[in-house]
Amino acid sequence: MRVDVLTLFPEAFAGPLDVSIIKRAREDGLLDLQVHDIREHAADRHRSVDDYPFGGGQGMVMRVDVLDRALEHVRSLDREQGLVVLLTPAGERLSDAAVRELAGQKRLILVCGRYEGVDERFAEHCVDREISIGDYVLTGGELPAMVLIDAVARHLPGVLGDEASPEEESFAHGLLEHPQYTRPAEYRGWAVPEVLLSGHHANVEKWKQEQRLRRTKERRPDLLMDGDLRNREGEGTS
Ligand code: ADE
Repeated sequence: MRVDVLTLFPEAFAGPLDVSIIKRAREDGLLDLQVHDIREHAADRHRSVDDYPFGGGQGMVMRVDVLDRALEHVRSLDREQGLVVLLTPAGERLSDAAVRELAGQKRLILVCGRYEGVDERFAEHCVDREISIGDYVLTGGELPAMVLIDAVARHLPGVLGDEASPEEESFAHGLLEHPQYTRPAEYRGWAVPEVLLSGHHANVEKWKQEQRLRRTKERRPDLLMDGDLRNREGEGTS
């Protein structure tokens, strides 16, 4: 997949996406990430990218003309049109389902908003989807873009290797993951649940499913609202 990022802070992207699984995905050519500086498309001698909001109000608004030129330039770098995503706290909230949809695209163009926001005409005429990573406001769309890239990259074929499949993860079933343990079996008197050491496969699976349900009920009851809880309780494995 090709991912282009438009940002006023390209340097923010060095680091988080240069380690571990994402680093390997980039080296293996599974993820082609290109970061572009919006300011290069400013037209005046001050290289301004933002201005005061019409009608008054706090802060600055990113200009539609600068953003549009930056987007047109980036679009022209590849034959694939790409889905244009604006990261903004006013967008739809990122979910596992949205991540999977985005992972099915050949190209994503992510636009990171800054200041108090972007001119609405850009969102209206140039953007396909507006996404928020949660109900809190960050200083810009850079961290949200990195979160989105990381989440999407895990779903690209070959990125996680053979051992781990995102299809088998809890969120695929709308439940939280069961707790995990490793050696030592006892530490400072803190013991691992007996059943996990029993070697009884069916009991282990039953325990894991009970734990997923319990955790989800306790921590994220909202996840159970649309699903049929009784059906899930009947499931032995997943
Ligand atoms: N920009 C600022 N806050 C944000 C959020 N929560 N999600 C996406 N973009 C943002």
